[in-house]
Parts: sequence; structure tokens; C-alpha cells
Amino acid sequence: MRQIIAGNWKMNGKFSDIAPFVATIVQAETEAELIICPPFPMLQSFAAALPAGKGSIGGQNCHANLAGAHTGDVAAALLAEAGAKYVILGHSERRMDHGETNADVAGKVLAAMNAGLIPIVCVGETGPERDAGEEMHIVHTQLTHSLPDSFAGIIAYEPVWAIGTGRTPSEAEVAAMHAHIRANLVARFAEDGAKTPILYGGSVKPGNAAALLALPEVGGALVGGASLFAADFLAIAASAPRG
Ligand code: PGA
Repeated sequence: MRQIIAGNWKMNGKFSDIAPFVATIVQAETEAELIICPPFPMLQSFAAALPAGKGSIGGQNCHANLAGAHTGDVAAALLAEAGAKYVILGHSERRMDHGETNADVAGKVLAAMNAGLIPIVCVGETGPERDAGEEMHIVHTQLTHSLPDSFAGIIAYEPVWAIGTGRTPSEAEVAAMHAHIRANLVARFAEDGAKTPILYGGSVKPGNAAALLALPEVGGALVGGASLFAADFLAIAASAPRG
């Protein structure tokens, strides 16, 4: 299956970054699907700047409700109207900074799907949870409660302790977790669960991308810091195994 390389710009970037970034990534010689998730105000300009077939745009959050009195929140349908095809949901920074629960994430996933967006749902254990040997249980619980009963989207396994730290789990640990997530998805969603892409995220860089992307059940990467640099993002995409 085609790999997915998604860039999460978080609260970074400015309008003047769009043109040089796009000028570089259009040169990508990769079969991977490239996705950029910039801050909300940049969505529409980014979508307009990306030539057709050269990548897609995603949001970094949405609200579970269609509309209403929710100051500071954004409706999934508006993201779609702005040109987004994807939306990252349940990122650990949202879970920590905004107290998002698994149930909150499940509501957002449904809203995103109803708006025609493809949700990228993040799961992953903290450092102390891994030290305590609880990572499989934690991720199982997150999947069980963050995904609605009918799910069409993408999972991103992002160990919280690997995000922005330069540390990653070993290849064996990534492979074990991705196998665990696959088994969980197949048990719950049968055929659909067998096809759901499972991305790895957390300190993915040009230097480690090829090894991580080649692991079984790794269907791509969710890239934070390195996605802000077009050349690094391109190098990561170029590491994706073909078809
Ligand atoms: P990082 O972030 O690549 O900077 O570790 C990944 C993420 O939070 O999605």
C-alpha cells in the first residue's frame, strides 16, 4: 500500500513559508501520499498553493459538534471547506494541554468522518507508562475508546516520550506495537481494520526514517519538527518504501 508521510506543523509557520515549502516539495520523487497539517489560518492558502496530485492538507483538531457556541474551536465541515482532506485528532499535546479524553476524541472522529475528512487518530504511551510495562494496555484502551464503532481513517502511534525528544523506541518495539495495533483493529473492524494505515510518529528524521518506514505494519510517518524543513520532509518521504 502507498505510504503516508504527514507533516504536523503544530503552532509553527507563517504565510511566507508556504511558497518556498511548496516549491521544494513539488520536486518529491516519491510514491508516498504527502500531507501537510499547518495551523488553521494557513489551511486555505496552503491548499491553494499545492498543485493537484502533489500533496494534501490537514487540520490539527476539530470540534465534535457541527456548529455553536464553542469559542476558539473549529467545525470539521469548515476545515473541509478550507481545503483540508485530513485532520489530526487526539494528538498527545491536545490530550495533555486541553484535557481531551478518549471519549472526546471519539466524538471528534465521528464529526470529521461525517464532514468527509479522513481522521488521523493519535495514540501512544507516556515514558512512565512504558517504564511500567503498560504501553500495550494503554494503547489498547486508547484505541477502544477513541475510535467510534464504524471507523474509516488512519492511526498514528506516537509514544509521548519520543515526541520532540530525539529519542525513538527500538525497531523491535515499534514493530511490536504496530502488530498490537493491527491485531486490535482487525479484531474490531475485520477487513477494514486490516487495511487501516498505521503511521509511526515521534522524532522521525531523515536519518532514521528508512529503518522505521521499512518495519512491518508501518504505513508511513507523522512528522513534527522535521516537517518544518522542506528538505528534511522530502528526504523522509524519499525513504518511504515503494508500493
Ligand atoms: P516530532 O513530533 O517529530 O517533533 O517528534 C511528532 C508529532 O508530535 O507528531
